[in-house]
Amino acid sequence: MRALPDFPWDSLAAPKERAAAFADPSLGEQAGTGIVDLSVGTPVDPTPAVVREALAAASDAPGYPQTYGTPDLREAVAGWFARRRGVPDLDPDGVLPTVGSKELVAWLPTLLGLGPGDLVGFPRIAYPTYDVGARLAGAEPLALDALTALGPPTAATTPRLLWLNTPSNPTGSVLGVEHLAKVVAWARKHGVVVASDECYAELDWRERPGDLSEPPTTPSLLDPRVTGGSHEGLLAVYSLSKQSNLAGYRAAFVAGDPALVRRLLEVRKHAGMIVPWPVQRAMLAALGDDEHVARQKERYAGRRAVLRPALEAFGLRVEASEAGLYLWATAGEDCRTTVDRLAERGILVAPGDFYGTAGAEFVRVALTATDERIAAAARRLA
Ligand SMILES: Cc1ncc(COP(=O)(O)O)c(C=O)c1O
Repeated sequence: MRALPDFPWDSLAAPKERAAAFADPSLGEQAGTGIVDLSVGTPVDPTPAVVREALAAASDAPGYPQTYGTPDLREAVAGWFARRRGVPDLDPDGVLPTVGSKELVAWLPTLLGLGPGDLVGFPRIAYPTYDVGARLAGAEPLALDALTALGPPTAATTPRLLWLNTPSNPTGSVLGVEHLAKVVAWARKHGVVVASDECYAELDWRERPGDLSEPPTTPSLLDPRVTGGSHEGLLAVYSLSKQSNLAGYRAAFVAGDPALVRRLLEVRKHAGMIVPWPVQRAMLAALGDDEHVARQKERYAGRRAVLRPALEAFGLRVEASEAGLYLWATAGEDCRTTVDRLAERGILVAPGDFYGTAGAEFVRVALTATDERIAAAARRLA
C-alpha cells in the first residue's frame, strides 16, 4: 500500500471555530447566530417514511444476508436504471449492492486485482477517494485532464481502470453522451475498465428538452447511446445517500458488466463486505418510490436559488455547477482566503484545494443545510 494523504478536513479547524463564533445581533437572533456549515455534503433532511418503515419491518434478521443482494433488489436497480436513467438493458446479474459507495470507490482497484505497476486514472479535480483507492491497492494514481493527456497509449502509460465522475463532485460538470461514448470507444480499444461514479445523477439542474426525449437524470455510462448495447468493461456506481437522505444507512450499488460484477462479488463474499438485510430492504423501498426523490430535488433547487445569487452578490463567480449538491465558485484568489472571508460571516465552505491543485482558487459550497441556515447565509452575504 502507498502512503495515504493527510485527511484534509483537519485543516478546516480554525475557520470552523471562527464561523461557529459568529454573532451579529442586527441580523436577528437566528440568522445572526452560529455557524452555517456548507463544507460537507451530508444530507440534513429526514429519511423518507417509506424507507424508514421498510427498514423497521426488516429488523428481525437473525441470518446472514446475501452479499449479492436479493434478486428483487437487483431487479429493482435494473428497473430504476430503465425508468430514470435511460438504460433499458441492464442485466440484474450485473448489479451488486455496496456498503455506501465510498467503500466501493476506495476498494475497486483492489477488488479488480490491481496492484504495483498498474495505473488508476481519475479527473484532475476530483473527489479524493479515487486517489485513495489506487493507493490502497498499491497501484499508481494518475490525475488526468482528458484522455489526450495520455498521449499515444502504451502498456506503461495506459490506466487499467479509469474513473469518471458525472455529475462531478466538486465542480458539478456533467459529461454528455458523446463524451462518454468517446471514452468508452477509447477504453475498449485499449482494454481499460471504465467506472463512472454517478451519485448526483438525480440532481440535474439543466433545462430538459421540450420534447422530453432525454432521461430525467444526467446521462449514464450504461446508456445504450454510450455503450452501443454492451456493458462489457463498464461499471456505474450509484448511491442512495443523496437522493434519498440515506447516508446513515450506507446504501449504494455498482452495476454494469456481469463478468466484472462476479469478480467483485467473489472477493466481497470472502471478505464479508455485505449490505445488512434491513438496509437491503430499505434500498428496495427507496428504489420503488420516485416521489420522495422529486421532493428532495425541489428542496435543493430552492436552496440553490437562494444561495447562488447571494454568493454572486458577495463577489464570487459560480462555474460549471450544472448538477449535483454543490456550487463551485471562485473569487479569483487563493481558496483559503475565500474560506477565511466566508468564515468571518459565519459560513464554512470547502477549499477547492481539497480536490486537487487545479481547484486552488475555488471553493465548494454545499446545498446541504436547512432552509433556515441557507436563508441565514444569504442574509449574512448581503
Ligand atoms: C463523488 C462521490 N462519490 C461517492 C461518494 C460517497 O457516497 P456514499 O459513500 O455516501 O455512498 C460521495 C460522497 O460525497 C461523492 O461525492
